[in-house]
Amino acid sequence: MPKKTIPSTRDKKPLKSAKKKALKIQKAKTANARETTEVLLSAQKIYKPSREILKNANVKDYEKTLKTAAKNPEKFWEEAAKDITWFKTWDKVLDKSNKPFYKWFIGAKTNLAYNALDRHIEAGIGGRTAILWEDETGRTRKYTYLELFKEVNKFVNALKNLGVKKGNRVAIYLPNIPETAISMLACAKIGAMHSVVYAGYSAMALADRIRDASAKILITADGSFRRGKIVDLKSIADKAVKECKSVKRVVVVKNNNQKVEFDKKRDVWYHDLIKNQRTEAKTAKMDSEDPAFVLYTSGTTAKPKGIIHAVGGYMVGVLRTIKWVFDLHGKEVFWCTADPGWITGHSYIIYGPLLAGITTLMYEGVPDMPKPDRIWRIIEKYKVNILYTAPTLIRAMAKYGNEWPAKHKMKSLRILGSVGEPLNPEAWRWYYEFVGKNRCPIMDTWWQTETGMHMITPLPSAPLKAGSVTKPFPGIIADIVDKDGKKVKAGKGGYLVILNQWPSMARTIFNNPDRYVKTYWQEMPGFYASGDIAFKDKDGFFWIQGRGDDVLKIAGHRIGTAEVESAFIRHKAVVEAGVIGVPDPVKGEVIKAFLILRRGFTGSDELKKELLLTVRRALGPVAVIGDIAFVDQLPKTRSGKIMRRVLKARELGLPEGDTSALVS
Ligand code: WTA
Repeated sequence: MPKKTIPSTRDKKPLKSAKKKALKIQKAKTANARETTEVLLSAQKIYKPSREILKNANVKDYEKTLKTAAKNPEKFWEEAAKDITWFKTWDKVLDKSNKPFYKWFIGAKTNLAYNALDRHIEAGIGGRTAILWEDETGRTRKYTYLELFKEVNKFVNALKNLGVKKGNRVAIYLPNIPETAISMLACAKIGAMHSVVYAGYSAMALADRIRDASAKILITADGSFRRGKIVDLKSIADKAVKECKSVKRVVVVKNNNQKVEFDKKRDVWYHDLIKNQRTEAKTAKMDSEDPAFVLYTSGTTAKPKGIIHAVGGYMVGVLRTIKWVFDLHGKEVFWCTADPGWITGHSYIIYGPLLAGITTLMYEGVPDMPKPDRIWRIIEKYKVNILYTAPTLIRAMAKYGNEWPAKHKMKSLRILGSVGEPLNPEAWRWYYEFVGKNRCPIMDTWWQTETGMHMITPLPSAPLKAGSVTKPFPGIIADIVDKDGKKVKAGKGGYLVILNQWPSMARTIFNNPDRYVKTYWQEMPGFYASGDIAFKDKDGFFWIQGRGDDVLKIAGHRIGTAEVESAFIRHKAVVEAGVIGVPDPVKGEVIKAFLILRRGFTGSDELKKELLLTVRRALGPVAVIGDIAFVDQLPKTRSGKIMRRVLKARELGLPEGDTSALVS
């Protein structure tokens, strides 16, 4: 983890120092939610669980559950593993012999798809709705568990015909449609590793990920509708595949009936492929430690990391967290508004809800089309019980006004969730009051692609503070430390670390175990370094302040500064680029780029437009550029590393911190 100045320390008299801080921040014209008096005031008020929520809660005695799990986390996770069906149980729960390559449920055999589908059919709930789907244009589809099971089996047989075997990588570049779930589950049933790539990524970003994983099959769609426009997925996929020798076949889902180019030798329609397939398929008996999937996420270099999760542990972590955090009893309609291309989609659109045997809602589209009440309309229409979304969406909806949620009956809602970036107290309270009508607890869940499951989050029976992710999930030990790994006092900012192991932890980075060790385990041996900075208040509640490394969170999407910089440098006018995140009232952060131009180029508006296009081509629309500044020099260390921290401090008018390494 790079050494960074740890932001603001919080002293024993928070309210007094808060005023001073607020002034400074105002001067700096930042919207940084973590730094305002609001957070400090918020730290005082506690929201207690209602009797209604406590009545049937899976976990009634929150404090006792935390205490018991803390005494013996391994035992806690072994208990949790009993919710999964195993073909063979484990000889040992946790193997620590090859640190930090921890292993869970040694010797056990199981299968993800079996647990998400087959066992529910065997238990007689095949008629229950597994997936509800709606797209922006209003089309709908519905699958029961039995229907989904059959679809998955057909696709398993089809993929096998295409030569897919256990351990192979299959790339999935699809919108939020049922076929995404079917493809993922089919891979899981075979034991092949899927690599789902967010359908908003560009051809270049897709190609990078396919190449790294050397995927032999790509599953994509003709296109998708987004904000009333057609997204031409097939042609993006074609461009990517041109750069990838490993891809032998491309499976194309007909999603919006648009005309596409078709390479008859390489491409095959999904519907043709499954037409005559059997609805029964063999389940691969996977070892608990076999890799389940690879999912690419941004790090501090330009090259994304292929995070690997293991079959057994991933399932245990995801099922236990979804069941407890969202208090599931089996019949809920659960709506997670993320995309399957992110870990949130993997764990809480697809695997979590299906492992728990509940109904998951997939919505392919934006939340404010045709009107800003689309999201509330969907909740009313499908009687959604749990809404799990992101702060950026909450803030955008709040901006549209209270009248939009007020138009809809949302009595079905019981629990609300948030993930992806800090949920500022003001947005928390809006969510609580205008969406949850003061009766739905908000589960602000802190976790990461690497953790696979929620790590710091309340449970519905827990006390809440607006803007805090509260306390670690039972069986997780987290703390705040300084750069030497020493625990810091309550109220003091520091690095957020995890002190113990958990079943759904990442196992490695695909083809790069050294990077895995270096990124997460080396700086402070023995701890898992999350890369985030946070503080704990005197009641032991955690407050996340954001990333402490060179990773940005734009509208909840993770993106590396180095990725964006190397995208800028692709343009012939740019010699050097330094990129930082600056606060944005809706998106949390947007990118500000500082560019040094090659001699002969001038920083015109025309050039700015071209540069924006260059970045969009390289990374897709996820990299939202707020501003470009043309500069003569960038602050650098003696070794030539751009000091983004200094750039940021200067931009926001904050103290520059330790600048001893600065040379220019
Ligand atoms: C941030 C998303 C504040 C954090 C599941 C983390 C959060 C990164 C929260 C991981 C939260 C996630 N409050 N910040 N509730 N949840 N983050 O891998 O900086 O896309 O390190 O996983 O998101 O992003 P990733």
